[in-house]
This record gives sequence, C-alpha cells and structure tokens, in this order.
Amino acid sequence: MFNEEFRLDSPIRWGMVGGGRGSQIGYIHRNSAKRDGLFDFVAGAFDINEERGREFGTNIGISGERCYADYKTMFAEEAKREDGIQAVSIATPNGTHYEICKAALTAGLHAVCEKPLCFTVEQAEELLALAEKQNRIVGVTYGYTGAQMIHQARNMIANGDLGEIRIINMQFAHGFHSSEVETNDPGTKWRVNPATAGPAYVLGDVGTHALYLAEAMIPELKIESLMCSRQSFVKSRAPLEDNAIVIMNFAGGAVGNLWASCVNAGSMHDQKIRVVGSKASIEWHDEHPNQLKYEVQGEPKRILDRGMGYLYNEDEHVSCDRMGGGHAVGLFEAWSNLYRRFGTAMDRVNKGEVAKDVVKDINFPSIYDGAEGVRFIENCVNSADNGSAWVEYK
Ligand SMILES: NC(=O)c1ccc[n+]([C@@H]2O[C@H](COP(=O)([O-])OP(=O)(O)OC[C@H]3O[C@@H](n4cnc5c(N)ncnc54)[C@H](O)[C@@H]3O)[C@@H](O)[C@H]2O)c1
Repeated sequence: MFNEEFRLDSPIRWGMVGGGRGSQIGYIHRNSAKRDGLFDFVAGAFDINEERGREFGTNIGISGERCYADYKTMFAEEAKREDGIQAVSIATPNGTHYEICKAALTAGLHAVCEKPLCFTVEQAEELLALAEKQNRIVGVTYGYTGAQMIHQARNMIANGDLGEIRIINMQFAHGFHSSEVETNDPGTKWRVNPATAGPAYVLGDVGTHALYLAEAMIPELKIESLMCSRQSFVKSRAPLEDNAIVIMNFAGGAVGNLWASCVNAGSMHDQKIRVVGSKASIEWHDEHPNQLKYEVQGEPKRILDRGMGYLYNEDEHVSCDRMGGGHAVGLFEAWSNLYRRFGTAMDRVNKGEVAKDVVKDINFPSIYDGAEGVRFIENCVNSADNGSAWVEYK
C-alpha cells in the first residue's frame, strides 16, 4: 500500500527546461514531481521564447529571478546559489535533449529526460558514460510503466506464471496525425522534421514507449535481430515515418512484433502489449490501465484488477498502489510513481550511494533504458532504409 508518510529529509531542489505554456507534456512533469513532496520546484527555463517563459514561470509560482532565458544561464546561475537546483527535467523537442542532458550532467545535476534521449547510439553512450562518471541519476519518462499492473506483469513473468516466454506483441498506434495536422500545429511540426525530431518519427515518439513496456515486464529481454518497414503515408513527412512495423528475434528463442503509428485512424492511443508464454498469456492496454488480462490455456479468462490483495506484493521503493481497488487511476498516478522512484534514487545518490547500483535496486526507466531506445531506433532505421533487410542488432 502507498506510504504517504514517506518523505526525504530535504526535498530535491528541482527545475525544468521546456514544458512551457501550451506544451503537451510540461504540466504532467510538474504535476507528477510535486505530487508526493519529494521535489521542490524552484527554477525553470521554460520556453524557447524568453519573455513568454518568464511570464509563464512567474504565473505558475516561480520567482522571477529564477525564470531564466535559457538552460545555460539557468545552470550557471543556479550553481552560484547555496540553494541552487539539484535536478532538472528536460521537456523540450527531441533535437535539444543531447546537449541539455550533457550540460546538466556536466553541471552535476541529476536529470529526468524526455524520450528519445538523443539521436545516435554514439551520443547515448557518451551521456551514459558521463552519468556514470558524474555519479548522477538520469530518469527517462516512459510514463505508463509506473502503472501498478506493469509491476504485476513483471512479477508474474519472473515467477514463471506464464511459463517460457514465446511471443511479445507490442503496439502504440494512435490516429491523431492521420492527416497533415502539422500545417497548423507547431507541436507536431517539429516532430516530422529530422533536424528537430531525429532520424525517426513514430518509432521514437511512440514505438520506444511500447518497447520499454516489454523491457519493464521482462528485464532480461535482448533483441538479437530485427527487420523494420516504415512508411510516410502523409507524403510530406518523408523521410520520417508516420507508420512502422518491426519484427524481432530475441535471445533465447522468443519473437516479437511492434506496430508504431500516428495514422491509425480513429484510434485514441492504443498502446498495448501481449506477452505469450508456454502456459499462459497476459495483455495490458493503456486505455484500461487498471486491468491486466490473464489467460491460462484451458481455463476461463481472468481480469486482474489494480489495488487487490491477490496481486504480488509491492516493494517499498515501488509503492505504486495509491488508492484501493475499483477507483479509476491512470496516467497521472503512473507518472507520479515514476517521479517518486526518480526522487528516491536521486536522494540515495546524494547520500553517498553509487547511481549505477541504485538504478539496479529501484525499478524505473533509467539512462540505460533511454540508451536502449536510441539503439532500437537506429537499428530500425538501418533495416528500413536498406529495403527492410534483417539486421543483427548492434
Ligand atoms: N513521455 C511521454 O509520454 C511524452 C509525451 C509527449 C511528449 N513527450 C516528449 O516531450 C518532449 C516535448 O514534447 P511536447 O509535445 O511537450 O512539445 P511541445 O512542442 O508541445 O512543447 C515544447 C516546449 O519546449 C519549449 N522549448 C523548445 N526549445 C526549448 C529550449 N531550447 N529551451 C527551453 N525551452 C524550449 C517550447 O517553448 C515549449 O514550451 C519531446 O521530446 C517529446 O518526445 C513525451
């Protein structure tokens, strides 16, 4: 059960880059970080436009002198203060993540970085090495994996309830960009431009979420080879894809497929995963996050519900059951669970532990998972752009 009395000796002083007025994801970061009192929100460089960022920051309660023109000024000025920030969340368009995350780590800050972490495996490895060298936590917001039923799925698989894992069917396929909406929407426009979005659109924007769901449920999962087909159904988006299908072979003999799309007309979100084992299967859908379908061969189907005593116990670090069963909880709770884990991990490092070890002890999407997402995108693009050839996963 959720322990509301859990607090840090002193909350982590925290700031944001990006996530300004009207942004899609800024409020979700703030809401989740503030939820349990583990973070003290004190500074920000919220917007590409200085004036708008300052006005927004003061309107949401940040002191004017700590609303900065840009992240470089923020890191430099905050470092001069005794009460300067200790952690920063990066909620800017993809093309800026690498440089901002690198600057944050160099400044000795813990970071929460939006996905995709960066554009290339080389950059990801550099950030990973820097995080280890600086002994800092980097969390990556694959937000839905904070949902309690993902934790349950992980425990069921580890416990052998499904038998040997054979097939993993992953999907994140919404329909919001079925037409050329970017013409009038700046939040979509940067997503379909390689300079700001990177080498892929939906593979990175939604595909890595679905992949990480599988990795969160099956931590030892290793892709050995894959093939990818990607399309730009809205032609102006080429070379970036608005639809992609990936087939994967995993070490140990399991196989998987992943469908990432923004042109699944009529679909709201449809992030789903089905894991098939030799004895049973489980299925989870982000539009019904409180339920996990559990199907044992030869038995009636079961629907497991969040908050119930028959689920596997949670460890204290996870604490993701915030409310008794039956109440609908969703994205905000899942994200708050992740921020709770990020904050707990950062605090332990601040008290002298090694970030690399803490990451193994608390289950959350970390820089290792963010780097894996970048590797996945690079391998998919490599396959797709070579006639959808099978590629050995590198
Ligand atoms: N984890 C998730 O579920 C999820 C969901 C949506 C978006 N995202 C990710 O979040 C990031 C932001 O996406 P969004 O949809 O909120 O974008 P958006 O275009 O809606 O908002 C981006 C914000 O960043 C600001 N900004 C841009 N460049 C900046 C800079 N250099 N310094 C400071 N501020 C800057 C903009 O002014 C704006 O406020 C992307 O990387 C995206 O992939 C993640």
